[in-house]
Amino acid sequence: MEAGESVELEAWLEARESFEPPESFVEQANVSDPGIYEEFEEDWPDCWERAAELLEWDRPWEGVLDTSTAPRYKWFTGGRLNAAYNCVDRHVEAGRKNHAALRWIGKRGETETYTYGDLERETEAFAAALRGLGVGEDDVVTLYLPMIPELPIAMLACARIGAPHSVVFAGFSASALETRMERAGAEYLVTCDGYYRRGDALNHKGKADRAVRRIDRDIETVVVDRLGGGLPHSLGENQHDYDGLIERNRGRTVEPVARDAEDMLFLMYTSGTTGQPKGVKHTTAGYLSYAAWTSHAVLDVKPDDTYWCSADIGWITGHSYIVYGPLALGTTTVMYEGTPDYPDKDRMWEIVENYEVDQLYTAPTAIRAFMKWGSQYPEEHDLSSLRLLGTVGEPINPKAWKWYYKHIGGEECPIVDTWWQTETGGMMITTLPGVATMKPGAAGPPLPGVDAQVVDEAGEEVAPGEAGYVTVNKPWPGMLRTLYNNDERFLSEYWEAYSDPDADEWVYFPEDGAKIDEDGYITILGRVDDVINVSGHRLGTMEIESAVVGVEGVAEAAAVGGDHEMKGEAVYAYVILEDGYEESGEMEQSIIEGVEEAIGPIARPEEVIFTPELPKTRSGKIMRRLLEDIANEEDLGNTSTLRNPEVVDDIQNKL
Ligand code: PRX
Repeated sequence: MEAGESVELEAWLEARESFEPPESFVEQANVSDPGIYEEFEEDWPDCWERAAELLEWDRPWEGVLDTSTAPRYKWFTGGRLNAAYNCVDRHVEAGRKNHAALRWIGKRGETETYTYGDLERETEAFAAALRGLGVGEDDVVTLYLPMIPELPIAMLACARIGAPHSVVFAGFSASALETRMERAGAEYLVTCDGYYRRGDALNHKGKADRAVRRIDRDIETVVVDRLGGGLPHSLGENQHDYDGLIERNRGRTVEPVARDAEDMLFLMYTSGTTGQPKGVKHTTAGYLSYAAWTSHAVLDVKPDDTYWCSADIGWITGHSYIVYGPLALGTTTVMYEGTPDYPDKDRMWEIVENYEVDQLYTAPTAIRAFMKWGSQYPEEHDLSSLRLLGTVGEPINPKAWKWYYKHIGGEECPIVDTWWQTETGGMMITTLPGVATMKPGAAGPPLPGVDAQVVDEAGEEVAPGEAGYVTVNKPWPGMLRTLYNNDERFLSEYWEAYSDPDADEWVYFPEDGAKIDEDGYITILGRVDDVINVSGHRLGTMEIESAVVGVEGVAEAAAVGGDHEMKGEAVYAYVILEDGYEESGEMEQSIIEGVEEAIGPIARPEEVIFTPELPKTRSGKIMRRLLEDIANEEDLGNTSTLRNPEVVDDIQNKL
């Protein structure tokens, strides 16, 4: 292409505000009938039987939705099924035992393929091993593993025997693991010796051991050998070698346990307004059918596809869209342990080309990095296998959207910008790729059967273009059922703001700001609670603050999110020191280390700003919004209502 032509094309793309799905995509799409929105509305809640029908049931459901204990809704009541059977065994029974289920690519270029037959054998052996260690139905098993095949295998092994798993992101610290194990009452842990980061072997077992030592009960621990002796480790009391367990249990039969539709499939800890992580409870039938349905309708997953979601299984995206959704549909799911720029910045495109990936689902933060690195990297590869692109986790700005559309999708792939949360289990607001016009920057309308709106403080729908809050006015199968061991917080956090319990009207509040346009397309503006989104990772400011305050010499702290070109948001920590301690590079270092120790490197502050005071309202509340504006170098408006307005200048001068 001539240079002039390319400039013209860029200008044309930039000016476009909407894009139609390519005809070639629509013709083959799993869902292409625009009538689906109306059908779901008219047939609600029975429309959700379409999702349930994607699964195989040991006993069919009797009722679709039970509202009698709202907002603790129950879906597909009376039904029984097993999630692992649905993700593995039934595909083997259907004659697809040699079909690739999981294609794993390790950090050092190692590859492994598990067919559905392999996955069945391995999960069955590990399920037998877990039973042998004493794991029974409903016992929570914590999985603290990096992106290695043993992670999905352990999840499916737990699901097979009806033991809920609680996956803790491997980048979290010993202390974060300890909190999550304590809160879940877990007595079993699966972890590994270590893993590689940028070529170095990191000692992961050391972190796991530290957490276990601080827990006041016996924990049976299984240790996967990831490094093959690269980092010698020894097994202590109650510690078992994964390979040895598999060997001893190979060939044992473990029938998948038929679980009640509402039985817990897993727990996933996430951040909220207070310092304590929330244990989001997801169920077997509602969650799995919703993950399968959205994979089918939005990601257009078909059994013969090779589908790649580049998230980490330590977060909800990996649960729903690397493991449960794609495997329930019997497709080939790619699992990549490495980073997008190692060994070189074309790594992702090399994988797409080599594996002939059909769908790529990634985060805007990655797309911003690709954009910065330049289009020469994708241009080195044949990306024509791609049929659909997706994004998740944070807002994507139109420029990054269009770059993705042009340079990765070759203007032939629809993009789905999917808004959802740990709590929703699966996608809620996004376009159906075979049906709807795409508008870069806007996630889209709510999915069929999802009743989401944008409202003001009083719960009234806002006019197009005005900022408001997202609410969801009807339940959906993938919704969380409660917060584990904290039902009260479940009610106060998600339902109190907009529901009217006297009238039995329940409105779910996701704590996100948004606006809506005349066509009903929703643009997500970001969190309205004290949660920040760093590279698509959800972090609670209170958790970071308590980590900072835990550092010797710190008297008070406020952590806020400031805009960041690559990460979306970054952590800014404003810190007041105790008398006798001085601002210094060492103090800053101990604060950063304190946060890494309490949470993990992802929560590391971008900037530590020492200040003698924090801006407070007359009633003594820290003015976080003001601290955010300071971080973003925005106009601060009138600060005279503060109790201590003079502090603002001081802080601004430090940045
Ligand atoms: O603020 C929204 C943002 O991520 C939050 C949920 O984070 P988490 O529970 O970790 O789940 C992330 C993966 C689903 C939301 O409250 N978010 C998620 N997707 C989008 C988004 N913001 C804008 N656009 C999205 N597509």
